[in-house]
Amino acid sequence: MAKERVLFTCAECGRASAQWAGRCSGCGAWGSFQERPAASAGAALPTALETLATASEPERRVGTGSEGLDRVLGGGLVPGSVILLAGGPGIGKSTLLMQLMAGLARAGERCLLVSGEESRAQVAARARRLGIDGAAVHFAPGRELPGILATALAARPFLLAVDSIQTVRDPESQTMPGGPSQVRACTDALVGLAKAEGISIVLAGHVTKDGDLAGPRTLEHAVDVVLSFDGDPSSGLRVISGGKNRFGAEGETAWFEMGQDGLHEIDPTELLRSADRLPGAATALPLAGRRALAVEVQALVGSMDGPARRHTSGLDLRRFQLVAAVLDRALGLSLSRAELFGSAAGGYQVRDPSCDLAMAAAIASAATGSAPPAECAFVGEVGLTGAIGRAPGFAQRVGAARAAGIRTVFAAPAARAVPDVEVVAVRHVSDAFGWLSRGGRRTDRRSA
Ligand code: TYD
Ligand code: MG
Repeated sequence: MAKERVLFTCAECGRASAQWAGRCSGCGAWGSFQERPAASAGAALPTALETLATASEPERRVGTGSEGLDRVLGGGLVPGSVILLAGGPGIGKSTLLMQLMAGLARAGERCLLVSGEESRAQVAARARRLGIDGAAVHFAPGRELPGILATALAARPFLLAVDSIQTVRDPESQTMPGGPSQVRACTDALVGLAKAEGISIVLAGHVTKDGDLAGPRTLEHAVDVVLSFDGDPSSGLRVISGGKNRFGAEGETAWFEMGQDGLHEIDPTELLRSADRLPGAATALPLAGRRALAVEVQALVGSMDGPARRHTSGLDLRRFQLVAAVLDRALGLSLSRAELFGSAAGGYQVRDPSCDLAMAAAIASAATGSAPPAECAFVGEVGLTGAIGRAPGFAQRVGAARAAGIRTVFAAPAARAVPDVEVVAVRHVSDAFGWLSRGGRRTDRRSA
């Protein structure tokens, strides 16, 4: 028979050691080591993975009441998982938390909101505005970590929502509240609670303008799922994209519109692209999170003999100016005295430089009056020389193109072949627009 393994533990401080020692190196006590069977010393006995797999049930998923959110989560919420909902101020995190809790409550799951940001009255007012039955959701104010843990243990909800992780304070930690060490320590403790008690947790987290989670990007390692909540606070369009996800595919997106009574899910396809083929419109394939979208970029040439003003909404003005200047030089579009307008459909904010080529196509199309070919999109950053750069995430972009019914993508060469979509290799803006009918150029009329 196998000999039972033993451990030596210090009766004074609890330090464990595989060997007996006369003096404890932890607390310095003499003769304090006692022999104990390993099992009773708190050692977890290893079990073969196979045994676990056959013993455990398939992963349970709980619907959140929002189809889009379920999709981003990978098919619903996994009980006992920890989700970080990261977004800028005013984007709608607290609203989403409330709607999520109401959805789970409708499915019979108990939810508890702990807020260090808002009072009960404020939270109740939001619930009323959203038409949510206040009885469905429990609320506790709280900023101190031990109090939050105790409240959760006493209430034992299915879901604990913490708004926000930056307001939680660990009194044991001497560091600054809201600072990276505090936020990390509090997150670790809450993750511990979720794993030990099977309580699902959603943490709202503020991100700064440059997309950083006010200090601790490191939180992403601690949690199971990271959801990024983006959009332009001045427009109603919102997108939730899944980043890291231990239980599902990364990069899924769900689109919402913030209305007077909360977030409503929308299908972005129609909002972001028109079905008609018109001069001045070209499709871009920006990455949104780790997924791509088909978004229409539009351009309009205003007065041809004014100062060369450029105006944009949803497009980066400096990139638009640069692309217009490069095009003017490469194609001789005579835009130096033209007023140009550029925008992205649906109030979408294009930040991805690989949308340059679509911007160029829209400007060239607007300036000449000829629409790009049917069912095509443009991908690539445009350099000052007019050279077109290769885009990161090309596979995602082509995937989005295919889903939107696009058959042709103009992009820099060396992209891998993809089924159902023809990739037309273009190196320079001067060879990307063979479809322009030069005869119809507005600028020709001027010079004629
Ligand atoms: P909020 O959820 O408080 O954002 P966050 O927690 O991310 O800071 O909501 C932000 C904005 O949304 C706020 O300016 C008010 C607006 N809003 C609506 O437009 N409709 C609504 O139904 C609600 C609840 C809020
Ligand atoms: Mg909030």
